[in-house]
Amino acid sequence: MSAARQPAERRVASAAAPTRRRAILLGAGGLAAAAAGAGITVAATSSPASGSAAQLRRDEAQPTPGEDLMREHGLLIRILLIYRYLAGDFQSSGLIPALHLHDAALIIHDYIEAFHEALEEGYVFPRLRQAGQLDSTVSTLLLQHARGRELTQLILADTAAGGVARGSTGKRLAGAMAAFTRMYEPHEAREDTVVYPAYRNLLSAAEISELGQRFAQLEHEQFGADGFTAMVSRVAQIEAALGIYDLAQFTPPNIIPPALP
Ligand SMILES: [Fe+2]
Ligand SMILES: [Fe+2]
Repeated sequence: MSAARQPAERRVASAAAPTRRRAILLGAGGLAAAAAGAGITVAATSSPASGSAAQLRRDEAQPTPGEDLMREHGLLIRILLIYRYLAGDFQSSGLIPALHLHDAALIIHDYIEAFHEALEEGYVFPRLRQAGQLDSTVSTLLLQHARGRELTQLILADTAAGGVARGSTGKRLAGAMAAFTRMYEPHEAREDTVVYPAYRNLLSAAEISELGQRFAQLEHEQFGADGFTAMVSRVAQIEAALGIYDLAQFTPPNIIPPALP
C-alpha cells in the first residue's frame, strides 16, 4: 500500500519507525569515524574480490559518497518545490491538501532526516571535525538538522488527520514549509559546494570506494534494492497530484525578440 493510501494512524506510526534505523546508522558511522580517528585506512584489499576486474567494474559504477549525497539532495530539492508550491497556493486558496503534504513530510522524515542526514552526522561531519576543518559550518549544519526535524514533526502532526488544512492550522503549516525551504536551500548548497568537496579531499581513493559501497549497502538495507528510485517515484506522484510534475511548465517564455531581417 502506498503511503498516500495508508490510514493516518499507520502513517504516524511509520514516521516514528526510522528513529531506530537512524540510531543503527549512526552507530555504523561512529565506527567509521572511530576508524578514521585512529588513522586506520579502510583498504580496498579487505574484500576477497578486491583487485579483480569484477571489483573494478563495481567501483566504476558505484557513486562516490559525495555523488550519493548530492543525488539525495536532488530529492530534497523536489520536496522543497512541493513545499514552496503548497505554501504559495495557501496564500491564494487558504487551503492545504494535508494528505499530499503529509506524504512529502514523511519522505523528508524517513529518507532525508533518518538516512541522508544520518550519513552526514555519522561520516562526513566527524571526519571534517577530526581534521579541524569547517568547525563553525558543521555546528550550524547540525543545528539546522535539529530545527528541520522540529519543523517536520510539526508538519506531520498537523497533517496526520488528512483532509484539508485551513485557518490557523493552514497558516502554521505554510509558515513551517516556508521556514524549512528558506533554511534548506542554503544548507544543501553549502554542503554541495564546500562541505562535500572538503570531505572528498580528506579521503583516499580506497576510502572513497569503500564508503561508496557502504553508503549503497546501508541504503539497500533500509529501503530495499531500489530504495532511491522508489522515493523518487513517491515524490513524482505527489507532484503529479498537485499539477507540478510537468517539467516544461517551468520554462519561461522566450523574451528575446526575433532578429530583424
Ligand atoms: Fe545537512
Ligand atoms: Fe545534506
